Amino acid sequence: MPFSERTQEAMNQQLKLEIQAFYTYLGMSDYFDAAGLPGFSQWMFNQSQEEWTHAMKFRSFIQDRGGRVQLSDISRPASEYSSALEVFEQALQNEQVVSESIANVYALAEEEKDFASQAFLNWFVTEQVEEEKTMSDIIDWVRRMVDSPQGLFLLDERLGQGGLAGASGAGDQAPV
Ligand code: FEO
Repeated sequence: MPFSERTQEAMNQQLKLEIQAFYTYLGMSDYFDAAGLPGFSQWMFNQSQEEWTHAMKFRSFIQDRGGRVQLSDISRPASEYSSALEVFEQALQNEQVVSESIANVYALAEEEKDFASQAFLNWFVTEQVEEEKTMSDIIDWVRRMVDSPQGLFLLDERLGQGGLAGASGAGDQAPV
């Protein structure tokens, strides 16, 4: 089954986005660590590791299809935020960008009748629904806690233990 130059380029672009997400979430984890919120920091660290796994799946897929991996420059992530709410709002925006990009790669694979790429991308389509929901759920929780430092610390504890229902930030497995 042919792996077109266009699809290959789009997959490489997606690889870059996943590595950028890894780096962004790592920066967010470090921000939370410095802010004295170890649970948030751990949760975001777990999220960064998931993104790294996603990136490596794209890398392997490109190689398995006989393509060539092209690594790109990535940007330095932000290290300062005004609040936990701002962090999660930006993380949600990031996930929305990733979802749109996955959809674009999928549409391209469909156009090229590249069924192997479509099958590979199916998992990511479902994963993005879950990731956007997770970020939205946490935003709701953080908004509720905004006037309650005690509530924020309780939330920090929960996230450090693996998270809220439907918002674990860990344990999702990419397809092998
Ligand atoms: Fe791999 Fe959260 O996008």
